[in-house]
Amino acid sequence: MIGMFASFSGLSFLLAWLIGSPPANTEPQCRCLYGDPCWPDEDTFAHLTQQLSVPLIHPRPLAHPCYTDPDCPACVAVHARWDEGTWRAEHSGATQHPNFETFINPSGNVDACYANSSVGDSCGQGSVPIIGVEARTVADVQAAVTFAAEHNLKLVIKNTGHDFLGRSSGRGSFMLWTHHMKDIAVHEKFVPLGSPPEGESYEFALTIGAGVQWHEAYTAADNSGRMMIGGISPGGSVGAAGGWLLGGGHSALSPSYGLGVDNVIQISLVTSMGDHLTTNAYSHADLFWALRGGGGGTFGVVTSVTYRTYPIVPVFLASMSVTSNRSEPVKAAFTELVRITTSLTDSGWGGYVQFSPVGDTCGFSFGTLVPNVSWEEANRTILPYFDYVKSLATTSNLAQGTLKLEGGFTTQWPSFWSLYKHLMPNTGQVGRNLELGSWLLPQKALDGDYEHVANVLMENQGLSYELIAGGAVSKVDPLSTGLNPAWRKAVVHAVFGITWPDGTSAEDIQRLRDSMGSRLRSVRALAPESGAYLNEASMFEPDSRHAFFGEHYDQLRAVKRKYDPIDLFVVAEGVGADEWDEELRCRV
Ligand SMILES: Cc1cc2nc3c(=O)[nH]c(=O)nc-3n(C[C@H](O)[C@H](O)[C@H](O)COP(=O)(O)OP(=O)(O)OC[C@H]3O[C@@H](n4cnc5c(N)ncnc54)[C@H](O)[C@@H]3O)c2cc1C
Ligand SMILES: *[C@@H]1O[C@H](CO)[C@@H](O)[C@H](O)[C@H]1NC(C)=O
Ligand SMILES: *[C@@H]1O[C@H](CO)[C@@H](O)[C@H](O)[C@H]1NC(C)=O
Ligand SMILES: *[C@@H]1O[C@H](CO)[C@@H](O)[C@H](O)[C@H]1NC(C)=O
Ligand SMILES: *[C@@H]1O[C@H](CO)[C@@H](O)[C@H](O)[C@H]1NC(C)=O
Repeated sequence: MIGMFASFSGLSFLLAWLIGSPPANTEPQCRCLYGDPCWPDEDTFAHLTQQLSVPLIHPRPLAHPCYTDPDCPACVAVHARWDEGTWRAEHSGATQHPNFETFINPSGNVDACYANSSVGDSCGQGSVPIIGVEARTVADVQAAVTFAAEHNLKLVIKNTGHDFLGRSSGRGSFMLWTHHMKDIAVHEKFVPLGSPPEGESYEFALTIGAGVQWHEAYTAADNSGRMMIGGISPGGSVGAAGGWLLGGGHSALSPSYGLGVDNVIQISLVTSMGDHLTTNAYSHADLFWALRGGGGGTFGVVTSVTYRTYPIVPVFLASMSVTSNRSEPVKAAFTELVRITTSLTDSGWGGYVQFSPVGDTCGFSFGTLVPNVSWEEANRTILPYFDYVKSLATTSNLAQGTLKLEGGFTTQWPSFWSLYKHLMPNTGQVGRNLELGSWLLPQKALDGDYEHVANVLMENQGLSYELIAGGAVSKVDPLSTGLNPAWRKAVVHAVFGITWPDGTSAEDIQRLRDSMGSRLRSVRALAPESGAYLNEASMFEPDSRHAFFGEHYDQLRAVKRKYDPIDLFVVAEGVGADEWDEELRCRV
C-alpha cells in the first residue's frame, strides 16, 4: 500500500514539474493538527464562535457516556440504540460503523472507545475530530471554511457519518458538521439559475439543505405527490445531499431513472476561498460536472441540492429466498440469475441479491422492484426466473442437497415510498466494525462464462449483488458527468465486507484486510477495465485513481485545482489525495 502511494505521488510530482506548474512550496507542507504548537488557542476559537449561529461543538466517540457512568440514561441509550442509523447520525462524533471512530497507531495500538467498557480501559478519542462547527446557515459554513484555511487545519466535512473510506472522521482535525442544515423547499416550477429563456424548467423540483436525509426527502416529495430517486438504508438515514450524491448515488430505481448524479439539477456550495457558488448546466458548469461523481469532501462544502422528482407511480416487488445444505443448487440458481441480469435491468428491475454468511446452509435472498409497468409486464419479465428456480427445487436430488424456496412471486405497491416503509426496519446494517470491497460488473463480464462469474462471486461471504445500474444508467452519455465512465457500462455492483469484534488486534485486522485484498483481486479479474463504486469501496483499493475515476481523473484534478487552489479539501482516495501522505497530513 505505502509503496503504491509513494510511486503515484512521485509520478505526479514529476508530471507537475514537466508541465511547468510550480511546486506548491508557498503553501505550508503539513496541516496543523490538535496538539501541534500551531493549533489555535481558546481565544482564537472564541473569536470564531462569535461569527456562528450556535456554539462550537466538541465531538466525542458515541460510547463516551458509558465511561463516566454505565447506568446513566445516555449510556443506556448508547446500548439500546447502537444499530439505529438515524440516531447515530444525530451525534457529531459518531460514525455509522464504529471502526471509523477508532485510530490504529503506527505502533499497532488501537485507540478506541468501545461500547463495552470492559473491552477497553478508557475512552480514546481515536479518529474523532476535536472541535468543530455545527453549521446552520451558509454563513456558518463560510466562517468554518475560512477559519480552517486561515489556520491551515485539517478539515473534515461530516454529514451522517455513513462513509466507508473514513472520510467523515480524521484524527486531530476540525469538523464541519452539516447535519442540522435541514431546509426543504418544493418548487412548482424550477428554473435553474442562469438558464436561457427557452431553457428547460422542472415541475416540482425539490431543494434540500446539506443535512437532509433520505427519509426526510422521500417524505417531503411524497407529501407533494412525487417520487425521488434516492438511497436505501434502514430508517432512510443516508444523507440525500452529501457524499451519496457526490460519489454517484445509486438506488433500486436507478435502472429505470438513473443515478443520483443523473437526477440533480443544481448544486450550491462554499469553496475554500469562502465563495458561495451556484452550479448547474449554465453556471460553473465545469464544477457542476465534477461534483456529479468526483466524490465527497473534495471540491467544496455543498450547502444545498436541487433534484428533479417524478409523479408517483406504482411499483412491483419480486422477492424470493433460496437456501440449501449444499452449494450446488444455490450455484445453479445464481448462475441463471447472472445470465438474465442484463435483461432484468433493461426491463427496469432494480434491487439487491444478498448472500447469507456461509454456515450449515447457504443461499441468497432476492429482492427487486420495477416501477410503472403493468402486472402482465412485471410477470412476463420475472416469473420465468422464479419458475426455473422452482424446477431446481423439485428436481435437485438428495445427494445434491435440497433446495428450499420461499417467496417467488410479485406484489404491487402504490408507491416506492410505501414499499420502502413496509420493507425497511429502522435499525440494522450499522453499528458494527465493517470495511467493504467493491467492483462494478459490466454487461461484457456477465455475458461471458456465467458459471465462472457465479463461482468467483460466491466465494465472497456476505456478497451483495446489486442490480442498481444498467438500463437508464447506461443510457446517459459517460462524458456528461464527472462520474467514472465505468458506471455507464456497469450492470451490477458487487460488494462485500470484512467485520470484526471490538478489541481485535491491529495484526488480526490486517489479516482480514489482506484476505479482502486477495478476494478483491479475483473479482476485479472478471472485468479489469471496470471500476469500483467509491462510496462503498475498499480503503485499500490499490489503484484508486483508475478504479474510482477512470478516464475522468485528470479533468477532475484540473477542476479541483481551479476551485480549491489551496487543497483545503482532501479526503482518503479522493481526487488529489495521492499528493499527500497516508494520514493526509503532509504533502509528499
Ligand atoms: C447502511 C448504509 C446504506 C447505504 N446505502 C446506499 C445506497 O442505497 N446507495 C448508495 O449509493 N450508497 C449507499 N451507501 C453508501 C453511501 O453513499 C456513502 O456512505 C456516502 O458516503 C454517505 O454520504 P453521507 O453524506 O450520508 O455521509 P458522510 O459519511 O457524512 O459523508 C461522506 C463523504 O461525503 C462528504 N460530504 C458529506 N457532506 C458533504 C457536503 N455537504 N459537502 C461536501 N462533502 C460532503 C464527507 O466529507 C465524506 O467525504 C450506504 C451506506 C450505508 C452505511
Ligand atoms: C464485555 O466484554 C467482556 C470482556 O470481553 C465480556 O466478558 C462481556 O460479556 C461483554 N459484555 C457485553 C454486554 O457484551
Ligand atoms: C410511466 O409510464 C408512462 C407510459 O410509458 C410514461 O408516459 C410516464 O412518463 C411514466 N412515468 C414515470 C414516472 O415513469
Ligand atoms: C440435505 O438435507 C436433506 C434433507 O434433510 C438430507 O436428506 C441430505 O442428506 C442433506 N445433504 C447433505 C449433503 O447434507
Ligand atoms: C402475476 O403473477 C402473480 C403471482 O406472482 C399472480 O397472482 C397474478 O395474477 C399475475 N397477474 C397477471 C396479470 O398475470
